[in-house]
Amino acid sequence: MCGIVGYAGSKPAAPLLLNGLAKLEYRGYDSAGLALLEQGVRHQVSGVSKNNRAHLLIIKKAGKIHNLVSAIKSELKTDTRERITAGIGHTRWATHGQPTDENAHPHMDCGRRVAVVHNGIVENYQHLKKQLQAKGHAFRSQTDSEVLAHLIEEQLKKYPWAEAVRRALGQIQGTYSVVAVYEGEPHTLVGARSGGGALVVGWGKGETLLASDVPALLAHTRRVSYLDDNEMAVVTPEGPTFLDVLTGKPVSKKISDIEWTAEQAEKGGYPHFMLKEIMEQPRALEDTFTSRLDPRTGEVVLEGKFWDSPFIQKFRKITLLAMGTSYYAALVGKFLLEKYLRLPVDVENASEFRYRDPIIGKDTLAVVISQSGETVDTLVALREAKAKGARIATICNVMGSSATREADGVLLTRAGPEIGVASTKAFTTQLGALWLLTLFLAGVRKTMPVAELQKKAKELSRLPQQMAALLKQRKALEKIAREYSHYFNFLYIGRGIHYPIALEGALKLKEISYIHAEGYPGGEMKHGPIALIDSKMPVVAIAPKSSGVYEKMLNNMEEVKARQGKLIALVEKGDKLAASKADTVIEIPTVSEDLSPILSVVPLQILAYEISKKKGREIDQPRNLAKSVTVE
Ligand code: M6R
Repeated sequence: MCGIVGYAGSKPAAPLLLNGLAKLEYRGYDSAGLALLEQGVRHQVSGVSKNNRAHLLIIKKAGKIHNLVSAIKSELKTDTRERITAGIGHTRWATHGQPTDENAHPHMDCGRRVAVVHNGIVENYQHLKKQLQAKGHAFRSQTDSEVLAHLIEEQLKKYPWAEAVRRALGQIQGTYSVVAVYEGEPHTLVGARSGGGALVVGWGKGETLLASDVPALLAHTRRVSYLDDNEMAVVTPEGPTFLDVLTGKPVSKKISDIEWTAEQAEKGGYPHFMLKEIMEQPRALEDTFTSRLDPRTGEVVLEGKFWDSPFIQKFRKITLLAMGTSYYAALVGKFLLEKYLRLPVDVENASEFRYRDPIIGKDTLAVVISQSGETVDTLVALREAKAKGARIATICNVMGSSATREADGVLLTRAGPEIGVASTKAFTTQLGALWLLTLFLAGVRKTMPVAELQKKAKELSRLPQQMAALLKQRKALEKIAREYSHYFNFLYIGRGIHYPIALEGALKLKEISYIHAEGYPGGEMKHGPIALIDSKMPVVAIAPKSSGVYEKMLNNMEEVKARQGKLIALVEKGDKLAASKADTVIEIPTVSEDLSPILSVVPLQILAYEISKKKGREIDQPRNLAKSVTVE
């Protein structure tokens, strides 16, 4: 989704904003732009030449950030660039209007004195645009966002700067995170948020920043405040003040310290973030378990009062809400929670949940799973579940994100920043966190014998090491990728707890390589998909021997071979029987069936990565995709 950066301070703003935008590239974008406030421009007042008038400069380009960098270099002299110490930047992911220079943000008013960058959708923009056109406003773009600049221009006729922005925001319906600048107050940025993705204020020394995501701030500060819905920040180099957008009254905000470092958000010598994040998984899983899981006693400790509340003993039902990869983690979670708690567990695609009238109430624990904590569908489902009386827990990777702020209880996955669009370490740590949740609840509700809790806790604590050994297979997987990268379609099959891994394996391949891939339960094959099998169809079968449906998977594999399908089998180390049926074998260590998804997904991530690399794809920023989907 679109990225926003804003800066008010004493350093040259242009390189700083460009650097911030580069840190947000992973969110996906198709154009980029800056609005810079140039101070001390000479101008004529009553025939006298005067200094100190500020001047708004807009430079924006379709395509990648390097296009914008070249434009800035050619349009702005070095000394001008160095003099400018305030501005805003944006990477746009097109919704309304093609990705062109004109439609790129920032957008300006008629008088070219106000500039805005916006994430979200102005739903009533057609209506507002007509009203503004009737008043003589000429529009330069096809975007919904441009109306905001014109609305502010109108309000500036009556109100001072920040109040004019607040009044303009009051006229729009829809979602926004927005930052605006104005020539008349060149040191004061105004940011606001209502739904349209995060907006974070960074507290620096003699400088204040705004960004849609923390990685853009890390090089400058790790002290941040997150804007909640209907809040605005009036930002000067001396610091921010916060207001309620609806009432204009001051709001006090707490400052949080970010644990992530700037280095964690760098590639660290890897060619892609995705590969770095795949390789980080043993560390990420271990961190997620650290200080929570005691392999000796089988005890799990979760941070926060919610986990000690009487509700934890009382609830009768669990609903898991998520999207994409997080949804597939939830599917695995259903197996664990049902098996060990003996409670009904629903898994809901959050975007569908909100448009039904789901049966959920005071006896429900709704667990929202999200890497970013900002996925709009997931957040709306969270609010819907809350409104129906459910208590909310979130398994989330970003502390301070909307999901963590709106939930009653938080279980943080300690994956560190995940930058690659394709989720990898977030997924395996979500599975680790779902295990923690299962063992914690089973412990406090006494649904598992202590010996079994201890056994599982021991097995879990061994996983990071087993995963590290598995990652050594990368060379072998690169060879397999070479053999299979020219196919146009893939099927992934699995049964039981391995079915979500088939879905995740297929998603990884399709989203970064653009090869068509589908995941199916093995049992579904005869109900249709088997018609697709021929010598041009590779089938990835996830068939660990420890699985209760192993024999059935062997049958599925036979059926694929009988129709000349190309069979890639994911089998336990040393399983000669399953291996004998396959064209290509990928081995994983033997672990209990319900732990095996945490390992079996890893070679599938690497396979997808290596195939995409062979095909020369933009692995970290696949076409049409954004890291967090903050608009519907
Ligand atoms: O941040 P979230 O976990 O809420 O994101 C959900 C999905 O958008 C995300 O998992 C998406 O499917 C990834 N691109 C998968 O690799």
